Amino acid sequence: MNRLSRWCMTVAFGGLAGVVSAAGYGAEAPAPSRGELLYNTHCIACHTTHVHWRDQRLATDWGSLTHQVQRWQSNTHLGWNEQDVAAVASYLNTLYYHFPQPGDRVSLQSENRK
Ligand code: HEC
Repeated sequence: MNRLSRWCMTVAFGGLAGVVSAAGYGAEAPAPSRGELLYNTHCIACHTTHVHWRDQRLATDWGSLTHQVQRWQSNTHLGWNEQDVAAVASYLNTLYYHFPQPGDRVSLQSENRK
């Protein structure tokens, strides 16, 4: 929604600024993250958003969220690596869950190795 309205604004003002606005478009509306692309491509088909905020949801913290993402990518035989799982978990976390999340990749990986 946010991106859409930003896009609308870019289109609306694009006529004024011409080439400058076309160049600025990429900078203002960043490309979807890898996690977003992966999720939208492989996962969203049979999910509605309510899966992620239903009462008895299975993801209750960052660890169980990554576990669920791991479980689903393996259910669907996608063969994602740790970075892919973390990217999608992070995307879902930003969108729905808002769990405290290990900030950097290094701590993420060491947590997965336990
Ligand atoms: C075949 C349909 C289907 C596909 C494909 C699918 N899911 Fe799901 N997902 C579900 C259903 C149904 C549930 C709820 C029941 C359950 O967890 O077994 C669920 C639950 C989840 C949950 C737990 C939500 C919560 O908090 O309880 C996560 C996280 C999740 N899916 C992630 C993914 C990811 C990531 C992918 C892509 C790799 C994916 N799913 C692909 C159907 C699907």
